Amino acid sequence: MSTMKNNFKDPDHLYSSWSFSKLMAFFFLLISISYLFYSLRFVSHSYECDQPPHIPTIIHQHISNIPPQEESPPQEEFPPFEETNLSHIVFGIGASAKLWKQRKEYIKMWWRPNEMRGVVWLEQKVKTEPGDENSLPRLRISSDTSKFKYKNPKGHRSAIRISRIVSETLRLGMKDVRWFVMGDDDTVFVTENLVKVLQKYDHNQFYYIGSSSESHLQNIYFSYNMAYGGGGFAISYPLAVALEKMQDRCIQRYPGLYGSDDRMQACMAELGVPLTKEKGFHQFDVYGNLFGLLAAHPVTPLVSLHHLDVVEPIFPNVSRVQALKRLSGPMKLDPAGLMQQSICYDKARTWTISVSWGYAVQIFRGIFSAREMEMPARTFLNWYKRADYTAYPFNTRPVSRHVCQKPFVYFLSEAMHDEGANQTSSKYIRVQQNPDCKWKMEDPTRIKLVVVHKKPDPHLWDKAPRRNCCRVRRTKKKGTLLIDVGKCREDEVVELSLSRTSIHNS
Ligand SMILES: *[C@@H]1O[C@H](CO)[C@@H](O)[C@H](O)[C@H]1NC(C)=O
Ligand SMILES: *[C@@H]1O[C@H](CO)[C@@H](O)[C@H](O)[C@H]1NC(C)=O
Ligand SMILES: *[C@@H]1O[C@H](CO)[C@@H](O)[C@H](O)[C@H]1NC(C)=O
Repeated sequence: MSTMKNNFKDPDHLYSSWSFSKLMAFFFLLISISYLFYSLRFVSHSYECDQPPHIPTIIHQHISNIPPQEESPPQEEFPPFEETNLSHIVFGIGASAKLWKQRKEYIKMWWRPNEMRGVVWLEQKVKTEPGDENSLPRLRISSDTSKFKYKNPKGHRSAIRISRIVSETLRLGMKDVRWFVMGDDDTVFVTENLVKVLQKYDHNQFYYIGSSSESHLQNIYFSYNMAYGGGGFAISYPLAVALEKMQDRCIQRYPGLYGSDDRMQACMAELGVPLTKEKGFHQFDVYGNLFGLLAAHPVTPLVSLHHLDVVEPIFPNVSRVQALKRLSGPMKLDPAGLMQQSICYDKARTWTISVSWGYAVQIFRGIFSAREMEMPARTFLNWYKRADYTAYPFNTRPVSRHVCQKPFVYFLSEAMHDEGANQTSSKYIRVQQNPDCKWKMEDPTRIKLVVVHKKPDPHLWDKAPRRNCCRVRRTKKKGTLLIDVGKCREDEVVELSLSRTSIHNS
């Protein structure tokens, strides 16, 4: 800041040394500044009109177009900026013939045949079943990679084939492509949120966008600079062009690497392109129960889920595929809000409520601070099957062992749009029993159902990230907790004055 200030003359100096040329310079400065304000107003104005918040690009265009000698703002209209949409994305899915029969079910869950473009790359032909053709991307056989060296003792040479999918897909010559998005056959994308994330970036530049592993050691062994392939990642079109020119030579330089994604990262490093991290891509290099992670998702759109074969089904008592299908209801109603956490208190009963919209609601006895609740509970093990708190590249909290501090968990049972109220209504029910607790305070056991009302907010991610707020509502329905979730009101914060109540009732 201090260097900025020094570049401006102090006012006294300006007044004491007016000369004609300085007056002119000052005049032009004034015009430039008013034009800048005008441009910024244009930016915020277009934002309100639901145009893409492509602010970096727009500012850049305007500033570089300021005519240095002109007295009035230019009349020239800028061409309308064409927002990135699903049609600009081409998916490249790495699949194996051996697992195709089960894995294709994951793809069918998110694939929309008439709206999306993409190719599933296999190593050999697979049997197609009736209906597949209309519910899956085109299938193609990857070209032969036997001339490439593969020397990793633990991995499999199919890594080379999968690493080349971006280049092979590019060579198909599809038109109007802005992004290539890679995923595995067991990656599930929330495509509206994927589009939202990609809209933030200028597809005319080199971008490599994805996320790390949830296991710190994986990131040590592979790289913190690597986009994990299963979580999916996006490569901008010009970067894919640059990659395609050098990838085969690049791959030959790294025969010792394990997978396809570390080969990709090695080539990105040669191209000098860093990973742009978006935390909504989920590799899920964990074992056990994803609950802790999904109940406290970071404040960023949920883009992908992976390793769903490895972890327990995300809803109890159903199969993995059934569990994911249940998620598709809220995913359609309000994708931006899916798995977004909100935290509030039931002041009368001294409970802490945490909502993961479209997934689960938890009720805790007593008051937990927002900083505790936004940490994922360690309901899972890391990729080396340890629950050690040092195992993750983010903060976690232990699962409480105290019977009274175990949350009452309600899982989504249904979600619908309430036309009259113009909002979504989602219902959550308790499946698992909680142990007896002797605290002399109101017991959530009698709550059988949680109903959450929320207005969908398709522009949630066009704004600076902020958690939604929730509020407990009065209801006459017995055994029901009614909650509103939505944008925080002015001065609304997650707080409860502890002087009113005591959480240590026994
Ligand atoms: C996507 O954007 C293109 C312009 O680049 C436009 O022609 C097309 O209609 C858009 N598609 C959808 C589904 O909005
Ligand atoms: C769900 O499964 C648990 C054990 O896995 C069982 O105790 C419970 O009764 C089941 N609940 C329902 C609703 O099926
Ligand atoms: C319903 O709410 C959405 C915002 O969530 C708004 O855009 C739409 O105009 C509303 N529709 C009606 C009929 O009020």
